[in-house]
Amino acid sequence: MDAVSTLVFLLSLIHLIFQTHALNALSSGSSLSAGSSSDVLRSPDSTFACGFYNISPNASTFSIWFSNTAERTVVWSANPLRPVYSWGSKVRLGSDGSLVLSDYGGQIVWTSNVSSSDAEQAQLLDTGNLIVKGKGDIILWQSFTSPTDTLLPTQRINATINLVSTNRLLIPGHYSLRFDDQFLISLFDDQKDLLSFIYWPDPSATIWQKLRIPFMSNTSGVLDSLGQFHGSDNTSFMASDWGMRTIRRLTLDYDGNLRLYSLKEDGGTWSVTWMAFPQLCNVHGLCGRNGVCVYTPVPSCMCTPGFEAIDPSDWGKGCRPKINITCEEQEVKFVHLPNTNFMGLDLSVHRSVSLGSCKKICLSDCNCNGFAYWQGIGDCYPKSILLGGVSQQRGTGSIYLKLPKDLEVPESSIPRSQFFGTKYWPGCSESDKYIIANFSNTHESSQNISKYLYLYGFLSAIFLAELVFIILGWFILRKERNQLSGAWPAEAGYEMITNHFRRYTYRELVTATRKFKDELGRGASGIVYKGILKNNRAVAVKKLGDVNQGGEEFQQELSVIGRIYHMNLVRVWGFCSDGPHRILVSEYVENGSLDKMLFGDECSEILLRWHQRFNIALGVARGLAYLHHECLEWVIHCDVKPENILLDENLVPKIADFGLAKLLSRGGSNINVSRIQGTRGYLAPEWVSSLPITAKVDVYSFGVVLLELLKGARISDMEKDEDEEVEMVLGRIVRKLKENLQLDGTEQYWISDFIDARLEGDFNYLQAVTMMKLAVSCLEEDRSRRPTMESATEMLVSVDEVTSTNRVAGAV
Ligand SMILES: *[C@@H]1O[C@H](CO)[C@@H](O)[C@H](O)[C@H]1NC(C)=O
Ligand SMILES: *[C@@H]1O[C@H](CO)[C@@H](O)[C@H](O)[C@H]1NC(C)=O
Ligand SMILES: *[C@@H]1O[C@H](CO)[C@@H](O)[C@H](O)[C@H]1NC(C)=O
Ligand SMILES: *[C@@H]1O[C@H](CO)[C@@H](O)[C@H](O)[C@H]1NC(C)=O
Ligand SMILES: *[C@@H]1O[C@H](CO)[C@@H](O)[C@H](O)[C@H]1NC(C)=O
Ligand SMILES: *[C@@H]1O[C@H](CO)[C@@H](O)[C@H](O)[C@H]1NC(C)=O
Ligand SMILES: *[C@@H]1O[C@H](CO)[C@@H](O)[C@H](O)[C@H]1NC(C)=O
Repeated sequence: MDAVSTLVFLLSLIHLIFQTHALNALSSGSSLSAGSSSDVLRSPDSTFACGFYNISPNASTFSIWFSNTAERTVVWSANPLRPVYSWGSKVRLGSDGSLVLSDYGGQIVWTSNVSSSDAEQAQLLDTGNLIVKGKGDIILWQSFTSPTDTLLPTQRINATINLVSTNRLLIPGHYSLRFDDQFLISLFDDQKDLLSFIYWPDPSATIWQKLRIPFMSNTSGVLDSLGQFHGSDNTSFMASDWGMRTIRRLTLDYDGNLRLYSLKEDGGTWSVTWMAFPQLCNVHGLCGRNGVCVYTPVPSCMCTPGFEAIDPSDWGKGCRPKINITCEEQEVKFVHLPNTNFMGLDLSVHRSVSLGSCKKICLSDCNCNGFAYWQGIGDCYPKSILLGGVSQQRGTGSIYLKLPKDLEVPESSIPRSQFFGTKYWPGCSESDKYIIANFSNTHESSQNISKYLYLYGFLSAIFLAELVFIILGWFILRKERNQLSGAWPAEAGYEMITNHFRRYTYRELVTATRKFKDELGRGASGIVYKGILKNNRAVAVKKLGDVNQGGEEFQQELSVIGRIYHMNLVRVWGFCSDGPHRILVSEYVENGSLDKMLFGDECSEILLRWHQRFNIALGVARGLAYLHHECLEWVIHCDVKPENILLDENLVPKIADFGLAKLLSRGGSNINVSRIQGTRGYLAPEWVSSLPITAKVDVYSFGVVLLELLKGARISDMEKDEDEEVEMVLGRIVRKLKENLQLDGTEQYWISDFIDARLEGDFNYLQAVTMMKLAVSCLEEDRSRRPTMESATEMLVSVDEVTSTNRVAGAV
């Protein structure tokens, strides 16, 4: 054996010996000493250990940690603010049942404040709870009632118990989780000398949107053993690996994000299985006063122009002015920070004012250091304190900063989020002009300490040798999509952060598609190829024909598309913008497009059955409703037709090519969406008139698709007279349907006449009539009389539910 393996062997032997020597209970009158690594209490199943935790070579806290993790994860500490010397300090269980922590010189640092005559022993339970037991198993004291930054399964918080974020040195930060004055479990940002801000749940949402119940005075909240959190106020969230027997913790991290972690079975590292903020910049006050959170694409801090960081290792401290403004003497100017906002702390509120008058308001007030202005609405919010700054990707709000007139403001010092770029990465030429904080890295100081710890641990040769640098995880989870799927609102952002949406190089795509060999189809917007990515995921790669935007704008648009996630929309995985190439990479959908299946000739083997057709109609309606009403931005599809409706292996429809309307120029140079974009036969009348284009054009096209689903044929092929324009055919069909729908119950034979004969009368009467009525109203000439996609969806859902609860309404 060489020297290294001998050493490893010895270390593990010593480790083993001490492990067997570790205590199971501390009896009354005995103590644990710092500096002696065997003085550790272990839980019976060895998950947790309790003893002295070295935060630096000479300083320790009395803590509980997980004993099987790669890097030591502390869940509780008695004395975070007042560490003790690492040698000679001890914690003693007094005969009165109180735990007393005393420093090297005997000075009492902390006590559990118990006085009882019948204390027996202190014990660490399998749950991670350190308890002091009296006679008859009475619990005299427990660590679960005084958590620090972590809540373990079955540990409760209530109105008197809260969590406070701590850094790696266990020093408390300014974020806390506690009940607010309406008894809602909330995250607070407690800024020094300022009010506390609640930043979770979303303070701008109403109580109904929050799905919380206020004023439930039996305040409590607990993470159950399956990984679901329940609060007395109806707070509820769930680990993505719910139900498995795994070790979990809920921690309020130093960056103000509340995260639920699960211990991975291999290697003892943690993965994030839920978090309050998938987009970290939304945590209030992350970058302190005068700091702005920007995506680089990693969330980072920048100072606003004219300011410098107070402490680059702790961005929560914010930025201070390079030159102080004195109100009377100095000349000032306003510097525009587009797409940036600072939350709250308004001096006053003015509505519908011009930018000029907003400037005047700020100039006339000595305390005003800038203002937020909403172009278009004319809302003006002068501010004295600039806190909670975020550079969003888009938005109508801007900040105007009041700065000395002679201060030079380089373009690069204006905060701008860059979701895909590399512009703000440290190390590039511009980085010396401002400082960037890495939330994904450890703080420098704690890295130094870790190094010491490593050395020290090696010398003492015991547990500390197991130390590994921290991964502060905002990006950890890489679970498969289906494990995460469901109705999580946070999911879209979550997935983007986990790197599912990304930028591809042209070369990668050439490899994936084997030099664009396997063509799936071609349309007006470009040619689609099948490709296989390195991770074996099948994708559809679309080379866009004629993109009217430069690389940067293209990325902006794409980042919006990339955030859209709905089961009835084709998932866009990424894009490529290399030189002249503009390529979209999206989900590969198994069964091809609806037109092939619906209008297939006799030889096509699959005939879409009625319930499949109805589910396709409903899915398409849901997808469009999501695009129109619930998306981050309004997205009008502009080209809804069977070719753009793909069917997966379960025949669930997925709409493709959404969001392209803005990207593509159809043989012109004008970016205006109001030029004709769609496909003949599916075009709403307003395309040819000069009316502005709204989401109602998609409603119209959806109406055509409904008719085609019912008929199983293209409108343009129906009842065709020679040379008749498709618009005329459509008009005639709609008029006839309208008349027929007026008929009362007796003469209904026309219905089965209208429906695709291949179904041989096997259809649901109620659903069919509803689809016809809906199609007729979607095809109204006057777009204001067409329903929204939301109400169209509701209409279909209503008959879907009827039939699922009442199966008798079967075929006619
Ligand atoms: C720890 O304490 C020892 C003795 O008091 C001292 O020599 C040493 O410099 C200290 N180490 C650190 C890192 O403070
Ligand atoms: C114990 O009591 C003392 C004095 O009443 C108090 O200062 C201290 O915070 C208490 N400790 C705990 C852990 O409650
Ligand atoms: C919170 O829980 C602790 C320990 O279970 C209990 O002593 C305290 O009274 C509770 N507070 C409230 C407000 O329910
Ligand atoms: C409670 O939460 C559930 C799920 O989060 C939600 O469906 C329900 O509407 C909520 N109740 C109230 C009263 O908000
Ligand atoms: C709180 O009280 C309400 C009604 O008073 C009850 O429905 C609810 O279950 C209680 N919650 C807890 C956690 O005890
Ligand atoms: C600005 O004013 C503050 C407080 O008055 C002072 O501490 C700071 O040094 C001044 N900064 C400059 C650059 O003059
Ligand atoms: C951020 O991380 C990079 C690379 O990990 C490092 O070079 C840089 O010094 C870090 N910046 C700060 C302020 O910690």
